[in-house]
Amino acid sequence: MYFNKKNILIVGSGGREHALGWKLAQSKYAINVYYAEGNGGTFSNINIKPDEFQRLSLFAKEHECFTIVGPEIPLANGIVDLFTEENLPIFGPTKGAALLESSKSYAKHFMKENQIPTSNFSTFSDIEKAKDHVLGQTNQLVIKADGLAAGKGVVVCDTQDEALAALDLMMVENKFGLAGHNVIIEERLFGEEASFIAICDGKTIMPLASSKDHKRILDNDQGPNTGGMGSYSPAPLIDSELYGKIIKDVMEPTVRGMSMRGQPIKGFIYAGIMVDTARKQPYVLEYNVRMGDPECQPIMMRLKSDLFEYLQLADEEGLDSSQPLEWQNEASVCVIMAAKGYPGKYEKGKWITGLNSHIDHGIMIFHSGTKRDEQNRVLTNGGRVLSVCALGSDTMEAAVKVYSAVEKISWGSNEQYFRTDIGNATFPHQK
Ligand code: AMP
Ligand code: GLY
Repeated sequence: MYFNKKNILIVGSGGREHALGWKLAQSKYAINVYYAEGNGGTFSNINIKPDEFQRLSLFAKEHECFTIVGPEIPLANGIVDLFTEENLPIFGPTKGAALLESSKSYAKHFMKENQIPTSNFSTFSDIEKAKDHVLGQTNQLVIKADGLAAGKGVVVCDTQDEALAALDLMMVENKFGLAGHNVIIEERLFGEEASFIAICDGKTIMPLASSKDHKRILDNDQGPNTGGMGSYSPAPLIDSELYGKIIKDVMEPTVRGMSMRGQPIKGFIYAGIMVDTARKQPYVLEYNVRMGDPECQPIMMRLKSDLFEYLQLADEEGLDSSQPLEWQNEASVCVIMAAKGYPGKYEKGKWITGLNSHIDHGIMIFHSGTKRDEQNRVLTNGGRVLSVCALGSDTMEAAVKVYSAVEKISWGSNEQYFRTDIGNATFPHQK
């Protein structure tokens, strides 16, 4: 195919978007990479919010951009449908295909219909019926708000009491607003988790390297869930046997099933997988229709191919499965430096030092929640502040490099928090 040289517009402002833009800027087909709204680490930021679809489409038209959407909310609200109506190239799923992520009950019914392995479930909009159901179960349960809740609408319960309390939280106290008025009650699965993400053109799957993220705030995967505290690629759990099963039992029927529903998936398709390690069987915990954050960061570090070529192919001519993406053999690790207090209350506006003190081969600092002040200094501007990444001959070596960089970065004594066990749970690092 003839590839067009184009400007690129990235919608979103986190570490995922910074990493995508960093990779895409290296393409021989990229002219300029704009970010809406970007952060303190990205350049060519434009002052348009991800929900201002009309302004975004006007900008994309004027600057002849190929648009890539990072976060889920604009996708769920139909940004792709609008751009497509206006004949603007955009990489992401339509609102209809985004239901796989924006409605957990849609996703569960879809999996059941297509025999995609997932845990048993029931859906409820009536609290009394939901509670009766919980009281009738002997297995441990997971309670999920049906709609989008920024990754926080899932309660994994050890006891029946916890499950009943989660129902009250969602259906009575409205903790997640409308998203929690319908709930899914599903059986709890046990095993080890990994993320499997692919580029898709509606029918062909182009798998990315496997990865794993650590969602819990504390070391050893303890404490409440966050947006993600660290990640690495590849995920050693996904050996070639499991890889084959995930493609055949999960990815292929997902893409085929959505196409048969008249909602082909064009964009990133991400399956959150729980592997029953004894039986080597993958189960789908959730779908996302976008790149994971922070999985994107270590995946981009390892990608050798020109990503923009593949996104243009997915958008126009179609992907060619005989031309897989190429990867560095090295492993990559990402540690999130967060503001103290995250995922609860935290402060913003702290001046970050040490960002330039360790420029080294194979280390990248992608910005998550940062901004620049009038003097061009980088300030903290969110809960997850920086995604510090490195490549290494194995996960351990990459982790050592990441933590040596992390230790040089600061925004005040005792103001930053990071997990010390990303990449190797037996290798604690100084905070
Ligand atoms: P989700 O937003 O659906 O990915 O859920 C967030 C996290 O909750 C997952 O990454 C898992 O750690 C956990 N989770 C979700 N569903 C289940 C399940 N059926 N069994 C065990 N853990 C689950
Ligand atoms: N890291 C999990 C997510 O992006 O949903």
